[in-house]
Amino acid sequence: MEKKDIDWGNLGFSYIQTDQRYVSNYKDGAWDEGVMTTDGNVVINECAGVLQYSQSCFEGLKAYTTEDGRIVTFRPDLNAERMEQSAVRLQMPVFPKERFLEAVDKVVAANAAYVPPYGSGATLYLRPYMFGSDAVIGVKPADEYQFRLFATPVGPYFKGGAKPITIRVCDYDRAAPHGTGHIKAGLNYAMSLYAITEAHAQGFDENMYLDAATRTKVEETGGANFLFVTKDNKVVTPKSNSILPSITRRSLMVVAREYLGLEAEEREVYFDEVKDFAECGLCGTAAVISPVGKIVDHGKEICLPSGMEKMGPVTRKLYDTLTGIQMGRIQAPEGWIREIKIG
Ligand code: PLP
Ligand code: COI
Repeated sequence: MEKKDIDWGNLGFSYIQTDQRYVSNYKDGAWDEGVMTTDGNVVINECAGVLQYSQSCFEGLKAYTTEDGRIVTFRPDLNAERMEQSAVRLQMPVFPKERFLEAVDKVVAANAAYVPPYGSGATLYLRPYMFGSDAVIGVKPADEYQFRLFATPVGPYFKGGAKPITIRVCDYDRAAPHGTGHIKAGLNYAMSLYAITEAHAQGFDENMYLDAATRTKVEETGGANFLFVTKDNKVVTPKSNSILPSITRRSLMVVAREYLGLEAEEREVYFDEVKDFAECGLCGTAAVISPVGKIVDHGKEICLPSGMEKMGPVTRKLYDTLTGIQMGRIQAPEGWIREIKIG
């Protein structure tokens, strides 16, 4: 299979239309059998539930070319499960896990020419999503839904890739204590657009959200969980019911303990402790692990000892091990890698 003529090494994180996507519709209480289509446009009623009341959720995962030339995805079963939890919380029908996995396989296989080559630094980002598609005017769940899954080749989420970024402590809240922060609802991201635009205008790369109830604890950023490293090399990640349970973060906790022999702890992290950490990173599918060099709290700077030039040593080991597993250089734990059959 011949790869597309794309400058893989210079891709950013933006949408490039690929050839095929998967679509399935839900009507009269059941999902149809689903089809692959070349049509990247969606036509829905002007009063569709998603357009009026934002009834939508999504996922994000990647396909990788391994060192020995296979194409694989990383823990797609966990994306299927998280999408199920998002759907339940948003009063949407569940798209069955086996069907989700089949859609992932089909879309990757059909767009194999867009899976970036091994070593290019790029990957094929997969975006499954679901929305209320029939007309709703009173506030209630839609009766009809569409599940879609498309693919787009991407490079690093933050320009500069592994260069440390600068973030600010944000005055806006991302998620309420008993709200929707723990699911991947589109509305959580609409909420964050004002804050991220303001952060960018002030020269910051991202926002650090604090817990909405007390504003004393670290939650997450708009699109990634936090990882900290203590001065005695312990990995610490915030525990909260209002952050997204990142698959990357859950995997990194296993990597830290079982591959690197480090202590790894999920617990409440008070903002007051942040100045004492040795390293900080943002972890997620898009972010992979993006090192944080500086955190600014209303003009007060916290400069991580790892500096602004490169990843700290523990972050680097976590990054190398995780990406090594994803690209087939390091043996993965049982069930983490799903190989896609091409052709
Ligand atoms: N937190 C938020 C708000 C996100 O949007 C994401 C991205 O999916 C993550 C964390 C990281 O989650 P994952 O590692 O499953 O991609
Ligand atoms: C992902 O990492 O897959 C996400 O959905 C985060 C988003 C900010 C791109």
